[in-house]
Amino acid sequence: MFVTFEGVDGAGKSTLISAIAERLRAEGQSVLIAREPGDGEFGLAIREMLLERHVCPEAELFLFLADRSEHVRNTVAPALSRGTTVLCDRYGDSTVVYQGYARGFDIELLKRLNHLATQGLVPDRTFLLDVDPAIAAQRGTKGDRLDRESSNFHQLVRNGFLSLAREEPHRFVLLDASKPPDELLHEALNAWPA
Ligand code: TYD
Repeated sequence: MFVTFEGVDGAGKSTLISAIAERLRAEGQSVLIAREPGDGEFGLAIREMLLERHVCPEAELFLFLADRSEHVRNTVAPALSRGTTVLCDRYGDSTVVYQGYARGFDIELLKRLNHLATQGLVPDRTFLLDVDPAIAAQRGTKGDRLDRESSNFHQLVRNGFLSLAREEPHRFVLLDASKPPDELLHEALNAWPA
């Protein structure tokens, strides 16, 4: 089972992922918590370049895609083939939204590049934690380069995710991330893929 979590910065993805992992492990399931960008050694090096240095938008795009390619091949796919449930904090939808809807790269091109980077691996379910970016920002983000983008940028990100969710209603589950963590956990487990 491959489940991804998307949303604006500060939406509360990692809190929800930890709570779900705890619940599934208590049921005896094998669970891997993963994240993009920056799982593993290669990912960490890319993450450092992406978040702290100035890179041009094209280089930024290719770094996210390089991270994803390595991550799928070396971490996600092997775990899935062992029967482990993988919970991934951000995946290809983040590229379509941040680099496409927000930065302006062609959406269809990005989808094709994602297909190449992931060898066609599509999540069984994607939870979109939707919240007003202004509220998310108050929760305190890490203040890295991408967190410091303008509020307009974060609004484009929010709307981009909502567009993707409308396009693929069978894969996406929309969660109102302004709700308390317990409620979000309950709603996510109710919408868990069979
Ligand atoms: P991170 O610190 O992991 O943010 P968060 O905790 O909010 O997930 O930083 C990842 C940042 O990179 C975040 O602002 C979203 C952005 N991003 C992209 O622009 N494109 C991508 O493909 C991915 C995976 C992330």
